[in-house]
Amino acid sequence: MKKWLSYLLPALVPAGMLLSCNGPGKRFNQTVTAALELDSTSIGVSTVAEGLNVPWEICWGPDGHIWFTEQSGTVSKVDPVTGKQQLLLTIPEVYRHRSLGLLGMAVHPTEPYVYLDYTHRTADSLIVSRLVRYTRGEDTLTDTKILLEFPGNTGHNGSRVIVGPDGKVYFSTGDAHHDEYAGDISKLNGKVLRLNADGSVPDDNPYPGNYMWSRGHRNIQGLTFTDNGHLFASEHGDATDDELNFIRKAAYYAWPHIEGYADRPAEKAHADTTDFTPPAKAWTPTIAPAGIAYYNHPAIRDWQNTLLLGTLKGASLHVIRLNDARDSVLDEKVYFTQHFGRIRGVCVSPDGDIYLATSNRDWNPGKGFPIPADDRIIRLSPIADTKGLIILPGAAAAPAAPVDKGAAIYKSYCEACHKADGKGVTGSFPALDQSQIVTGKPEALIHILLNGSKSTATEQMPAFQFLSDEDLAAVATHIRSAWSNQATGISDADIKAGRKPAK
Ligand code: HEC
Repeated sequence: MKKWLSYLLPALVPAGMLLSCNGPGKRFNQTVTAALELDSTSIGVSTVAEGLNVPWEICWGPDGHIWFTEQSGTVSKVDPVTGKQQLLLTIPEVYRHRSLGLLGMAVHPTEPYVYLDYTHRTADSLIVSRLVRYTRGEDTLTDTKILLEFPGNTGHNGSRVIVGPDGKVYFSTGDAHHDEYAGDISKLNGKVLRLNADGSVPDDNPYPGNYMWSRGHRNIQGLTFTDNGHLFASEHGDATDDELNFIRKAAYYAWPHIEGYADRPAEKAHADTTDFTPPAKAWTPTIAPAGIAYYNHPAIRDWQNTLLLGTLKGASLHVIRLNDARDSVLDEKVYFTQHFGRIRGVCVSPDGDIYLATSNRDWNPGKGFPIPADDRIIRLSPIADTKGLIILPGAAAAPAAPVDKGAAIYKSYCEACHKADGKGVTGSFPALDQSQIVTGKPEALIHILLNGSKSTATEQMPAFQFLSDEDLAAVATHIRSAWSNQATGISDADIKAGRKPAK
């Protein structure tokens, strides 16, 4: 333990020095290239590591280094001062494909353990998720022990792992495309699980001998604890309602019966007959929330008592302010939209610097990404002087809405999969430009819009019944005349007629 302390010493330099990143007292070797000016603090942006391949998890290690996983199966660490990287482990059992691979990691702060979770393909081609533990040596990870193995799928494998203030391991799992697993206490999928450091079930879990801590989750992508021990999770919704949840012991979050708040009749009915816990926040249109970290350091006063949330689809950093009790959300600001691309990982150092990991070499990059330096670990750190730096725009106002209603709906609900140019993603999301279904008979198009479709094995088209007749007509008309398509429009009455047979 003493040895770790000496690594932490740089964190104990007087606060005055912390503010002089550019000047003689500079703490880091990397150049600050841009700045963000908040009301009370200026933040410098610098790159700590580049050329990575989807750093899925980044976390601050007890040795003062940033530990990170890459999706293909490696664990490395980088010295934030010098940028020197060190590869610690390659896990050949990792199966990387699209959203699958080596995902979460937690470095235990007081025990010599590192927890990792990944997807694996068995000898008979079954996809499983695993939670494993390694023992941390000087610069090695050894003694692998599989703590959990349970069903995975071609998507919805979660996940994050984090060590709580109680020393327990919290592990969020995806529903593995089985909605019905999420509420089922006999299944490990669609849960937040809680384990002892050795992998056994803690005595004070809600159900004896059961790892379950909370249930009814679809696909959690971020976990963090506040300074008063509250656990928050970011979760991917389907076509609507990404969520931020305050995770409580034994609580029920009701996927797939309730998405976001219980605001539709069937959802209200389900909420009335269950112990449903509503989200702390929900986002429609969706943003694809990912890594999340609690921030409460005086280094950046403007962001004290917030949750920092990276987003994939939104390609931004959300700064979500909590109330004093840290159990509800007061407000939210959005920074860096599209500037770094997709942000998957967020971690905070003991001296209040923020690290972000980009995810532009994953299976679904946004327009203009990856850039040659991707993927990167980026630092946000207070600076005294922004002279000569590029000043990045402040918190975003709502993005300028396209004038055309159909184009606006397309942007909010369809573009993440079918893309702005209507060309989709080969092998995952079909092109709508020159699609027979789009430009052919209205009935077939209306049918797929209302009911969704899952004929491909890997991805599915969500059902959009929840949109009004007017909105569906507008988006259908838009895609029939966008790009090189030249088909006639679809009316509200066409949509209304299309709804009937489904009832
Ligand atoms: C989560 C990703 C996703 C979103 C969001 C999405 N789709 Fe799709 N869409 C798909 C997938 C996957 C398919 C292929 C489904 C299949 O093969 O069964 C598809 C198929 C389609 C098709 C059939 C195209 C063809 O040629 O086969 C149309 C039309 C379509 N989507 C329109 C839309 C519209 C309009 C929206 C927005 C209102 C939208 N989609 C939103 C994933 C998505």
